[in-house]
Amino acid sequence: MHSENDPIKLLQITDVHLYAMPSGTLLKMNTHEAFARVLDVVQEKENKIDLVLATGDIAQDGTVAAYEKFMNDIKVIDAPVRWIPGNHDIRDVMRDVAGNSGLCNKAEKVGNWQVVLLDSSRPNHVDGFINEEEMEFLDATLAEAEMDEEIDHCLVTLHHNPVPGSSSWMKDIGLRNDKEFLDMVKSHEIVRGVIYGHIHQDLDFKIGNIRYFCTPSTCIQFKPEVIDFALDELNPGYRRFELHRDGSIESEVIRVSGTQFKVDLTSEGY
Ligand SMILES: [Fe+2]
Repeated sequence: MHSENDPIKLLQITDVHLYAMPSGTLLKMNTHEAFARVLDVVQEKENKIDLVLATGDIAQDGTVAAYEKFMNDIKVIDAPVRWIPGNHDIRDVMRDVAGNSGLCNKAEKVGNWQVVLLDSSRPNHVDGFINEEEMEFLDATLAEAEMDEEIDHCLVTLHHNPVPGSSSWMKDIGLRNDKEFLDMVKSHEIVRGVIYGHIHQDLDFKIGNIRYFCTPSTCIQFKPEVIDFALDELNPGYRRFELHRDGSIESEVIRVSGTQFKVDLTSEGY
């Protein structure tokens, strides 16, 4: 359990791209295998985790079997897990598989922090959009947190990048209503950080007073600052956050080391 003086420890696991068949590969990388290696590193390096955020593209094929596989494998981490859909996911299947496990909960209080989880997926589209209902939920949850005497800081989570990626090919795959989202989080002074996945890379930057973090996939990695689609040779990984009582955030990306993963570096898209 979390003790008052320790920072809150959160892990982000993202873009797992599991298939129903354990032999499933994405650009020749076995995604089950890569996820298993990431979980090995988590078990080796982490303890006392307060919450795990799985930020979308949990399954590549949207099958019950892939989501069940995720639910089962993630049990090696002794912490509650919350998931949100990405562009490859099917939200209704996720909801069914989650049942009453709490996986789909959209707001979590940990210490003096409020975590808000958003659904930015648009069925059958690669790009994302936060619809009216979801935007109202965000606004209301942040407003409520600001009134809550026990809450001092908020972290907002979504799958899609709310800031354009640095590679030209990524220009049409991000959050379509990015400006509306950025204005919304900026309008609530309680927001300290925004975390996302989708573009399979490590980013850590600031806009105004808010930190933004993108986290590498547990499988294939996208190369930043290129014109056409290209994979990076970096290994799969996850991100650790330490949320302090004063609102500061420490964060680090940890990648699998000592393992050479098979991946098709010549591929021109995914
Ligand atoms: Fe992805």
